[in-house]
Amino acid sequence: MAEPFGLLAELTYRCPLACAYCSNPVNLGDYTEELSTSDWARVFSEARDLGVLQCHLSGGEPLLRRDLVALVSAASSLGLYTNLVTSAVGLSRGTASRLRDAGLDHVQISIQADQPLISDRLAGIPSFHRKVAAMRVVKELGWPLTVNVVLHRQNIDRVGELLEFAASVGADRVELANTQYYGWAWQNRDALLPSRSQLAAAEEVVRSFSSSDLDVLYVVPDYYGKYPKPCMGGWAARQLTVTPNGDVLPCPAAQSLPLPRASVHSASLASIWADSPVMNAFRGTDWMPSPCASCDRRGVDFGGCRCQAFQLTGDAARTDPVCHLSPDHALVTDAVAAANESVDVPLIPRPHRARA
Ligand code: SF4
Ligand code: FES
Repeated sequence: MAEPFGLLAELTYRCPLACAYCSNPVNLGDYTEELSTSDWARVFSEARDLGVLQCHLSGGEPLLRRDLVALVSAASSLGLYTNLVTSAVGLSRGTASRLRDAGLDHVQISIQADQPLISDRLAGIPSFHRKVAAMRVVKELGWPLTVNVVLHRQNIDRVGELLEFAASVGADRVELANTQYYGWAWQNRDALLPSRSQLAAAEEVVRSFSSSDLDVLYVVPDYYGKYPKPCMGGWAARQLTVTPNGDVLPCPAAQSLPLPRASVHSASLASIWADSPVMNAFRGTDWMPSPCASCDRRGVDFGGCRCQAFQLTGDAARTDPVCHLSPDHALVTDAVAAANESVDVPLIPRPHRARA
């Protein structure tokens, strides 16, 4: 068994934004008892001992944690590479300076669109100008900046303008990530899934964009692929997630799967990583059903995404229906066919806060 490389520390599911594409769980009220500062410091230390090198501080909105500077300091002092994944709402110059002094290595800021009106509509609050101001602060303080854009039916037509926007704020990297349909995004799938023609046009724009200063990472949407992606690099292979209440998972969406719970309140990360039922449920290839079990690609994509298989079929142990070889593939082709009919479905925003 390999040691984990990355820890996704979901510090809180509270968030000032209300993005309909959010992949946070819909049962937000179950996560209001958040780990304390000392709990997180212990988690970081145990993760480092396990071999983790990168720590992604995420949410929700991690800036809503009043102890964020202390958490960065705790992770950084262990030698972890720290990445703040944020909407940047609340990232004032003063906070940014304190995070810099605490050792924060990298900042990733999300943007909903390149135009203020669209961005603010999708985010649910006026936030575009605050994000741009925060991006400038990040660059002034000398951090590498990644701009993250979740692409979907309502913004993908402006992918060229989004790339220009990222270049204009001095981003080092732009991540164009097509929506993953978990949590709130699953509830909004029919309103978010782009059409085939939208996708083809966007891919052409991305292909022809070139900049010597901006790295572009474009992730093809699952539903239009022939094969699934090797989600998380394989179940419990290189990544682990700790949720705001201390649950330990192989990926953030796995909270929806009917698997026994493992918590940092009752066991060490090392024992959870090695021995817990949740980590071992789909590790390796022994669990695989047909057609994965005898497929040449089983060591390449690991049968796809367990959470997507569960979401679509109700059984996490089935072949990811995104795969064209899956007996359930029609579940994906039907959704794609619906997305290619021009029906406008309204977005359901996620609530701003995780208060039950
Ligand atoms: Fe991957 Fe399974 Fe499809 Fe083969 S059958 S390509 S292993 S998902
Ligand atoms: Fe959970 Fe893919 S998101 S396995």
